[in-house]
Amino acid sequence: MASSQSTSAAIFPRRSHHCGQLRGEDDGAQVTLLGWVQKRRNLGHIIFIDVRDRYGLTQLVVDQNAAPAAYALAEQLKHEYVIGLKGRVRRRPETMVNTSMATGAMEVLADELFILNECGVLPFSIDDEREASEALRLKYRYLDLRRPSMQGKLFARSHLKQLFSAAFTEHNFVDVETPYLYKSTPEGAREFLVPSRVNPGTFYALPQSPQLFKQLLMIAGFDRYFQFVKCFRDEDLRADRQPEFTQIDCEMAFVDQELVLSTFEIILTQTINRFMGRECISTVPRMTYARALESYGSDKPDTRFELLLTDISAAAQHSSFPLFAQTLAAGGIINTLVVKGRAEEFSRKRLDELNELVKKHGLSGLAWLKKKAGAGGETWQGPLGKFFAPAQLEHLSQLSGASENDLLLIAAGAYEQVKLGLGALRTHLGKELGLYEKDAFNFLWITDFPLLEHDEANQRWLARHHPFTMANPEDIHLLQSDPGRVRAAAYDFVCNGYEIGGGSIRNHSPALQRMVFERIGLSEQEAQEKFGFLLEALSFGAPPHGGIAFGFDRLIMLLTQGEAIRDSIAFPKTQKATCLLTGSPSKASPEALKELYIASVAVPASGSAQEDL
Ligand code: AMO
Repeated sequence: MASSQSTSAAIFPRRSHHCGQLRGEDDGAQVTLLGWVQKRRNLGHIIFIDVRDRYGLTQLVVDQNAAPAAYALAEQLKHEYVIGLKGRVRRRPETMVNTSMATGAMEVLADELFILNECGVLPFSIDDEREASEALRLKYRYLDLRRPSMQGKLFARSHLKQLFSAAFTEHNFVDVETPYLYKSTPEGAREFLVPSRVNPGTFYALPQSPQLFKQLLMIAGFDRYFQFVKCFRDEDLRADRQPEFTQIDCEMAFVDQELVLSTFEIILTQTINRFMGRECISTVPRMTYARALESYGSDKPDTRFELLLTDISAAAQHSSFPLFAQTLAAGGIINTLVVKGRAEEFSRKRLDELNELVKKHGLSGLAWLKKKAGAGGETWQGPLGKFFAPAQLEHLSQLSGASENDLLLIAAGAYEQVKLGLGALRTHLGKELGLYEKDAFNFLWITDFPLLEHDEANQRWLARHHPFTMANPEDIHLLQSDPGRVRAAAYDFVCNGYEIGGGSIRNHSPALQRMVFERIGLSEQEAQEKFGFLLEALSFGAPPHGGIAFGFDRLIMLLTQGEAIRDSIAFPKTQKATCLLTGSPSKASPEALKELYIASVAVPASGSAQEDL
């Protein structure tokens, strides 16, 4: 492949314009362009080349008679060669204008051509129209990122970051960096540990979030803080989770929940609307966690569509279906999702598939009934029908609001099991049945989360958000007697079924903080060992404070209509937390481990070497 031309790469002219800049009005200008060969068409004595850079495409014309040396080089060009050219702008005749290109009213007639670098056989085409496997795209990410659509996502990311930074600055937030070599922060996930060579046998933890540092900044008097910050969590990955991700982390002093929510509402509205170029948010509605779970079966409800969960326990209790009676006797519930007017679209096979789907989400199964028009009025169809007397079916209609050609999908079980199972089914159906506008954005605040959740396996209470969250003052008296009922001063920012942000008001009194530590089973000694520095700091005049962190990757994914957050991250990891480009993580040498006083343990054989993206 190497040719004498490649040596000319050392000397090349500076560009006078970029490839998206020239217009018909530049007719006659002498220009120098640099870029990649996107396309080349050889028409005999004339070669057309589309030259691309970050800014756009320009058509170059190389005429054998006018520039024989340039023509000879142009004949050698292949996709993605890096070239330079000198030439003259020529306005295209009216009939030859390419209206799909910003530079389509002109072309450059080449005088001189330079090959700055060659390009080997590409693993996939640098073209938005052609699909490539995700594994290849990640392995050759620098090629994937040459695609205009991918560049667009990163430009969008950069733009949104600037808008947020400007809005935060305008509202008196100060940008402070916090350390990455840190110690444990209990945000619920596993941590990445980093051995300290100079302190043998000890480890830093990479922060799951800068939670305690931002609280310390409030104690230090900074009043309002924000930071775009990398956070690290060693958790099971999904399309909206990466092991390292970016938060817009924020904290405010002298605030209550109302002031936090209203301040961020202003910043979010201003920034997102400016970014989208249209009014996506005006006021952000609020919903309690209890209502979200009750009606949507989720703590991050997608409110773009209805399809709400309805309790039909009162009608089901008199049916002769044994499971319903057993469930209710055990304190459970029976709920339905009513798919309006589309019962005919659901074949047995499709209903069986839904049954399998809910089993993956913790339900024991899914029953169904279809309301049909019969000769003597409305009738019910489905295996459950025979267990209901006519009066009970009437009651069922009243409770569920079912009418002709409606499908009732019914689940029985414990409260959370039914709610979450049907919630997952609701999300699935919303997408499958196209129940919402794709470009709609339904932002909302979820409030009044429980402060604690019970860890059944270990028979203990855990902090649901994190242990620095303050209890709702009205519920503090329940901390000992009925911990499950204590509401937190915590809130999530949700959009279209995604949790985009989460935060809380913090315990600024050391006594309150100690009470929560005690409730989650931390002894005074453990609390001192882990968080002694925080308890001490709280005792030196900590102002009331609270804040929130937004998942920046998730927000970009949502606003750019992406399917996975890795699309809006320049160099993401796979679902198995590997980097296909650099081959990380990789083994450490015995010498490196020895220096860190780390002994290795045999690794069990892993299941599959297949990358799960
Ligand atoms: P939380 O744990 O809710 O709160 O995280 C805040 C937001 O970060 C995003 N997020 C993630 N994004 C991508 N990949 C992940 N693995 C991931 N995990 C979380 C979500 C989430 O809403 N310190 C608290 C904030 C506070 O209390 O102020 C915290 O980190 O969008």
